[in-house]
Amino acid sequence: MSFPRNCWYVAAWSHEVPADGLFARTILGAPVLLYRTAAGQAVALEDRCCHRGAPLSRGRREGDAVRCGYHGLKFAADGTCLEVPGQQTIPREARQRAYPVLERHNWVWLWPGDPALADPALVPDNWACGDPAWPHVPDMKTWPVDWRLVCDNLLDFSHLSYTHEKTLGGSTEIAQSRAEIERLERGVRVTRRVRDVPPAPYHRRFGDLPGNVDRWFIYEFMLPGVLLMHSGLKPTGAAWEDMTGALRLESCQALTPESADSTHYFFMQAAGFGQDDPALPGAIHAALLQAFEEDRAMIEAQQAMLKLGTLPMVAIAADAALAQFRRLLERSLAAEAGPG
Ligand code: FES
Ligand SMILES: [Fe+2]
Repeated sequence: MSFPRNCWYVAAWSHEVPADGLFARTILGAPVLLYRTAAGQAVALEDRCCHRGAPLSRGRREGDAVRCGYHGLKFAADGTCLEVPGQQTIPREARQRAYPVLERHNWVWLWPGDPALADPALVPDNWACGDPAWPHVPDMKTWPVDWRLVCDNLLDFSHLSYTHEKTLGGSTEIAQSRAEIERLERGVRVTRRVRDVPPAPYHRRFGDLPGNVDRWFIYEFMLPGVLLMHSGLKPTGAAWEDMTGALRLESCQALTPESADSTHYFFMQAAGFGQDDPALPGAIHAALLQAFEEDRAMIEAQQAMLKLGTLPMVAIAADAALAQFRRLLERSLAAEAGPG
């Protein structure tokens, strides 16, 4: 399968890349070594040594460089070979691929495509991952599914009513409502508002709620699979702009293919209330984990069915956002493939 390459992908949470030491992760089917220079700058090199293919992550850091643990070739942070033990000259081809990498709000972003196009302005704004006013538990899981199926899942919240009936959903009104979709240059914005519904089962943890609530989910979903969501609930009946008694949540989620059949899923959700309740971020995280397990189980089962063979899929209104995103993906892949 091909993936869009000229995009920033989340490679890791900042805390996963140690200050000292080497960290390995497969991204878009390629083994990647992540580490930090003495100044703390994140570095991403191909994790397959250009000499005989050993993983550099089994070697060691030497200053800002890394030495392969097999026969000792040493590479600078930009991939240049600095030393070949036992010889003076360094073969011209001896170099490791270095990926453009940068860190924003506790996510390490990696650009697997043309380095000349790696524009930092294209990094989606995951500010909530780094804002102390929005405490949360950062997490990631790797799921054995095609990343596009997880994108589909996040682009259609009608599934909250059914897949998450007993966790995040709690009402079929979510599936009954129609989302508004807006095309963005590198994604879509989805707005879904639902009035006068019972709070979701997981909302009970938020304290005494006044009976039925109005809920909203507003998110940008950006290439290559980054969700930035502003959601919440408030007492039913007031205008949408009236935020009296509103409980607001922010969530950042990013999908990075590990391979054609597996996906790294980085996520957090934070509450803009309950700052006097230190257990709240953990409770929200636990609720999210429970719901994500419902997604994973459904998507794995769906993928097993899809592997039986391609069938035409029946389009329904709820598919609008995911269909737009799939088209955007196709266009990106076509543009990267070039003419012909
Ligand atoms: S495989 Fe890395 S030095 Fe030989
Ligand atoms: Fe879900």
